[in-house]
Amino acid sequence: MTMKIIGTGSALPEKVATNFDMAEIVETSDEWIRERTGIVERHISTEDTVSTLAAKAAFKALEDAGKSAEEIELIIVATCSPEMELPCCACQVQSIIGASNATAFDLNAACSGFLFGLSTAYGYMCAGVYKNALVIGSEVLSKIIDWTDRSTCVLFGDGAGAAVVEMQEGEDPGMLGIAQGADGTKGMVLSCPDRVLNNPYVKNPIEPGYVQMDGQEVYKFATRQVPNCIQKALENAKLTVDDIDLFVLHQANIRIIEAVAKRLKADLSKFPTNLARVGNMSSATIPVLLDELNKEGKIKRGDKIVLSGFGAGLTYGACVLVW
Ligand code: ACO
Repeated sequence: MTMKIIGTGSALPEKVATNFDMAEIVETSDEWIRERTGIVERHISTEDTVSTLAAKAAFKALEDAGKSAEEIELIIVATCSPEMELPCCACQVQSIIGASNATAFDLNAACSGFLFGLSTAYGYMCAGVYKNALVIGSEVLSKIIDWTDRSTCVLFGDGAGAAVVEMQEGEDPGMLGIAQGADGTKGMVLSCPDRVLNNPYVKNPIEPGYVQMDGQEVYKFATRQVPNCIQKALENAKLTVDDIDLFVLHQANIRIIEAVAKRLKADLSKFPTNLARVGNMSSATIPVLLDELNKEGKIKRGDKIVLSGFGAGLTYGACVLVW
């Protein structure tokens, strides 16, 4: 028995904002953004919410998997930018797609969210609780970004990606190894405050919070922790870097991806990227890239793939799976 990804889907808002568009909003340039991050353009929502994007991606993943919404037993939405505190996004998605037999809940592990969602689904399946799941990463980060802060607003984009996973009988390998971690002591390196204490006994102004980041600290964390975590997941899978066909990493910054490849002594051509077109979409980056690779036929059955996410928390994780 093993867990396989049997379908993928993704959804991006129509509006595309280029680096030149960014330069009209804040003091920046296409050259600066490209050189420091690898990003050229990103999609920004003018209408879609986290739940509508998630539902669009979910419909496509279900179609790809050949499953009906009613067959789904578990929905996990990874997001750090929901529109609603209540109800959770996963329940909104359940309602939109008509997955009446599913349990549904959200999970927030920022840019590691999709990966943590996948491993949570895997845990339920190994325990025999559910046979399948819809795991989604969906973000509308454009609404939690300070559009006057050039050091953050140019980095992010909106979008959603989804995967249908299923526990299958037989010898065909699927999920082979997982490694995850968190370091809450560094949490304020990448933060976004929400509502602060406010009640009849304590009065605080209710002001919206925005994403704040110490970019250099995040860079150091990612380039140190991600290769270690991938090595650990590979050890758990009893494989080595050379056995892997593709490394699908969180798309935060091209320099982080290059540094991770170098530390792993892996060929950079095994690290596909789409961040030039979509920017950093936090929990959505891995499933959107996975869907693009799947639909373009760049992943073949039997390929060994590493997925690795890292971000606010600070959180990080990697898994090794056979497609
Ligand atoms: N355009 C032009 N200049 C800018 C911009 C911008 N958009 N943003 C910052 N600058 C300026 C700064 O004001 C600073 O100017 P100064 O020297 O006059 O003070 C200068 O550029 C250098 O700023 P740094 O913050 O030191 O720039 P750095 O080289 O570290 O690059 C970056 C910033 C790209 C964020 C980098 O730190 C990085 O790659 N960090 C990794 C973090 C990351 O990718 N986060 C994404 C989200 S988190 C996640 O997904 C895990």
